[in-house]
Amino acid sequence: MHNIGVTVNIHGNSSTRSHETKLTAKPFIKWAGGKTQLLEELEARLPKAIADKKTIESYIEPFVGGGALFFFLKREYTVKKAYLCDINREVIIGYKVIQNNPKELINQLEVLQDEYINRNKDERKDYFYMIRDKYNSQVQRFNFDEYNEDWIKRASYLIFLNKTCFNGLFRQNKNGKFNVPHGRYKKPNICDRDNIMEVNKALKNTEVFYGDFTETKDFIQENSLVYFDPPYRPINATSSFTGYSKEGFDDNDQKRLAAFFKSMNAKGAYLILSNSDPRNHNQFDDYFDKLYEGFNIERIKANRHINCYGNKRGQINELIIRNYW
Ligand SMILES: C[S@@+](CC[C@H](N)C(=O)[O-])C[C@H]1O[C@@H](n2cnc3c(N)ncnc32)[C@H](O)[C@@H]1O
Repeated sequence: MHNIGVTVNIHGNSSTRSHETKLTAKPFIKWAGGKTQLLEELEARLPKAIADKKTIESYIEPFVGGGALFFFLKREYTVKKAYLCDINREVIIGYKVIQNNPKELINQLEVLQDEYINRNKDERKDYFYMIRDKYNSQVQRFNFDEYNEDWIKRASYLIFLNKTCFNGLFRQNKNGKFNVPHGRYKKPNICDRDNIMEVNKALKNTEVFYGDFTETKDFIQENSLVYFDPPYRPINATSSFTGYSKEGFDDNDQKRLAAFFKSMNAKGAYLILSNSDPRNHNQFDDYFDKLYEGFNIERIKANRHINCYGNKRGQINELIIRNYW
């Protein structure tokens, strides 16, 4: 447990003070489709055995992105072991660098922060595009396969761009290039030293890897808790580009995921999946109802951007599908 306070030692004597303090780690990056607004609803739907004991033996997130639920669970529960996966190499670099070289990352971010903050409006804009160009031109010859020193600089660019771009989101175009324009935050917190050190602590006993969601297969066992948060199904069925990766996520992927969900159900794991409800746009659309027929399908209200340009907010339905009641 992470609570400050009295712990019971093996002799049942409760006078020993724990030096452990409560974790405060939160996502180190703002991610499109991040689930911060859904946390209460997700927590209310955790398996009873987990909610009662406040302990998760094994947690798996095959589409981790910014990891809103992972960090929430690390703050509020004891998570003994976790496996985080995503097909976006850049976000995985971020996690791995915070796991392995948090202090070096902080040093690099401090340099970027000083250089940016001390410039006037126009100079900041030029600086942003200079970093964005560097970041994008590195892609062709960057070694994404093996952890090395260059990952630290790349992670610092990722966080810098995320904190200073328009809307603070990370998006890539079809060629894998970061294409969000400059934002105008007065005092962006580019180097959040405390949170980086907290995220480093939260990533203890955690394996982070790049790959397709099916790569998590061998880690999912009986009683594991698995949270699936795949890219939303586009309203326009002809477009599968989601801005997360060059590959996109089309109806064939949704079917692959449903098949995976069923085979992990057979293993006896607890499964929770969220998705946008296509009935927000067409009340007769039963795509997911058919795909997950027989499972526990709920529609809940969530605050979210309603259209893909992100300039309209409102309450829409979100789907939460579980293999338990
Ligand atoms: C809706 S976002 C997850 C957001 C996350 N729950 C959060 O709180 O930030 C979906 C994620 O799935 C990833 N993704 C897309 N296709 C994938 C695939 N085939 N396998 C694994 N991850 C994939 C994207 O890169 C993206 O990070």
